[in-house]
Amino acid sequence: MKTSRAWLGLTALALLGFQTQAVAQADHQVTYNGEVGRIINENCVVCHREGGIGPMQLSNYDQVRPWAPLIQLRVANREMPPYSYDHGIGIQELQGDWRLQQDEIDTIVAWVNQGSPLGDPDITVPAPELQDPSEWSFVDQFGQPDLVVASVAMDIPADGNDLWTKHYVATGLTTERCIRAVQVKPRGDAKAVVHHANSSVAAPNEDGEYERYGQLTEYAMGKWGEIIPEGVCRTLPANSRVSWDIHMFPGGLGAAAPGTVIKDNVVEIGLWFHDEDFQEKTSPFKQDLKAYQLRDGYESGQLIVPPNGYTMTQGFHSFDHPVRIDSFQPHGHLRMNAASLEIFYPATGRTEQISQVSNWSATWHHSHLYEPDVAPLLPTGAVLVIKQWYDNTADNPNNPDPDQWVVGGSRTGDEMSHAWIAVTHLDGEGYEKLVAEREAKAERSLAGND
Ligand code: HEC
Repeated sequence: MKTSRAWLGLTALALLGFQTQAVAQADHQVTYNGEVGRIINENCVVCHREGGIGPMQLSNYDQVRPWAPLIQLRVANREMPPYSYDHGIGIQELQGDWRLQQDEIDTIVAWVNQGSPLGDPDITVPAPELQDPSEWSFVDQFGQPDLVVASVAMDIPADGNDLWTKHYVATGLTTERCIRAVQVKPRGDAKAVVHHANSSVAAPNEDGEYERYGQLTEYAMGKWGEIIPEGVCRTLPANSRVSWDIHMFPGGLGAAAPGTVIKDNVVEIGLWFHDEDFQEKTSPFKQDLKAYQLRDGYESGQLIVPPNGYTMTQGFHSFDHPVRIDSFQPHGHLRMNAASLEIFYPATGRTEQISQVSNWSATWHHSHLYEPDVAPLLPTGAVLVIKQWYDNTADNPNNPDPDQWVVGGSRTGDEMSHAWIAVTHLDGEGYEKLVAEREAKAERSLAGND
């Protein structure tokens, strides 16, 4: 054993860097008290604790130890923490990114291979700083929401079929406001049965009749919330109503024993606003969130995934003014297995890869929020190219039945093909300014002054 390691070490030194690293990794003792406890406390305990949404607690060594082999598997496959977004493809600077670094993954893998030791009993791993799981995500940054809009309560059987509710709730706002941050949160046990909740806004037209104004936000399990970028207004008009469209999937998580009913399911929207004079003072650009459809791959106008087969869909969208793309959230169900966003620039013939999610799972929906410094800037006429793939074979681990024809529809067993994208609508001047700012910043960092 000793000789072969030494030999490996020498060969590795003579070969590539990553091999040297792999050997070094296995050579030093990795312990819970040394390194692993910190990684788990910082990245896992938020969900895997009492009252959290994870199925078991991982708050200390005794709780973690029995799960070590499964932790190794889920972490090495990048299934935990749950955040599917490809490394090494497109934009990597995201807000609210739960992914582990590669060296953290390697550390956990090595620790389990070494028998998951505790290490020095005199070292105490610092406890994580955690919010109450029923609390709003942005409380530390912005305090409690300025407005909470709750849906009408429903009782849901824990093991029943898909259910929907659509209804209006008044916001009670008497003046137009700019949204600064928004989060949708199922209250209490509702998190176990709410599959997704769309909320749009209806506002009175000139005749006082309510009309659809636009999308407010979208919630699906696992979502964290959205901060609207600086200098931008996502408007909530005066006298508006929130139009709820909530989809409950009681079988989804096996939340409770068969026959039980989860009572009083309520979904809440928390809204944080800019000051009332924000628009007057800053004349911000308008931002909106919309579902962009991927219709171009449908056969005869219909989304169809054949039994034991595959389908791909594609959508193209362009704007008659410059825009910035602030976030991307693909949407599909059990057969969808991947999604990507690209930008095609007709002026140069170049296509740029922005984001790819190769390991999609309908259990977790994330809005990938690009850091403002790198959020794609599109000149007039540039084209968003959105692609999604569907795998209806037995190879897809999420597939409940590869022998079914799957068509477009709302049920979890049907499929969907759209992506939620937040777009800031710029003008020529605003676009030039943002481009110039980025160029200046890039030059500064090249010169090493940043
Ligand atoms: C956002 C919440 C969240 C975070 C963060 C999270 N988990 Fe999980 N985890 C869950 C949920 C919910 C499940 C059950 C559903 C599933 O398997 O996807 C789960 C399942 C698991 C399982 C499988 C349990 C089983 O019985 O199959 C393991 C192992 C696991 N998590 C480990 C981890 C580790 C290790 C981390 C941190 C590196 C982590 N999780 C971070 C929510 C989370």
